[in-house]
Amino acid sequence: MKIGFLVKQPEEPWFQLEWKFADQAARELGFEVMKIGTPDGEKVLTAIDNLAASGAQGFVICTPDVLLGPAIVAKARANNLKVLAVDDRFVGPDGKDMEQIHYLGISARKIGNAVGETLMNQIKERGWNMAEVGFMVMTFDELPTIQDRTEGAIEKAVEMGFPEGQVYRAPLQQRIEVPTALDAANTLLTRHGNVKKWIIAGGNDSSVLGAVRALEGRGFNAETAIGVGINGTDCIPELEKANPTPFYGSFLLSAREHGYLTAKMMYE
Ligand code: GLA
Repeated sequence: MKIGFLVKQPEEPWFQLEWKFADQAARELGFEVMKIGTPDGEKVLTAIDNLAASGAQGFVICTPDVLLGPAIVAKARANNLKVLAVDDRFVGPDGKDMEQIHYLGISARKIGNAVGETLMNQIKERGWNMAEVGFMVMTFDELPTIQDRTEGAIEKAVEMGFPEGQVYRAPLQQRIEVPTALDAANTLLTRHGNVKKWIIAGGNDSSVLGAVRALEGRGFNAETAIGVGINGTDCIPELEKANPTPFYGSFLLSAREHGYLTAKMMYE
């Protein structure tokens, strides 16, 4: 048996790990995984045709755009392939989650809440004067799982006493990755040059890493800025640096669950 495993950002360690664990499931259970990077809609549709042509029976996908959901499902059906969404849930023409397509993802809002709580605890532990602190939130509202994470972080911080008027959203353009986050953070910092200390949240590690690079470019360091990521996979070199950077920590998700389990479920 052959299955496909399509990911939107094959360069991101998170997705490399999903592939690694999908391969492990394939070895243990005895099937083949075709790993294909599909950064845009055209590549996704071509990949589905190629999978069918090579005799695959289904695929797991983290789509480059959740709005492609209906097109992916139509293409899969036309090719008689089963489909399972991982990480990013398909959105239907009505703007709602396509619940009829099975999906494995995270409790995005709760994990976002945990980020907000960690940041607030750090402000308190360090005895920072809240009036001097800005909250930089690296948003990417095109993707609901990311929006839930960032809004969850804001919600919790505000609930714990962070002033709502000091929350600044920095929207990432096109993709959620380090360079787009760096640009979004720089734009925001230009507008808020008077802020003395920063806390940073984002939808994943890459978005927070981009913000951290922008802050370092303006002289902020681990004493004056605190960033908390999500994934725990794309920040390892950062955490291994001899001198701590503003990237304080990350919430470790289970790439094994996402890669191994989805591949196994598709096989079964
Ligand atoms: C999204 C993000 C990834 C990762 C996964 C986890 O796809 O872009 O970095 O956080 O969610 O499900």
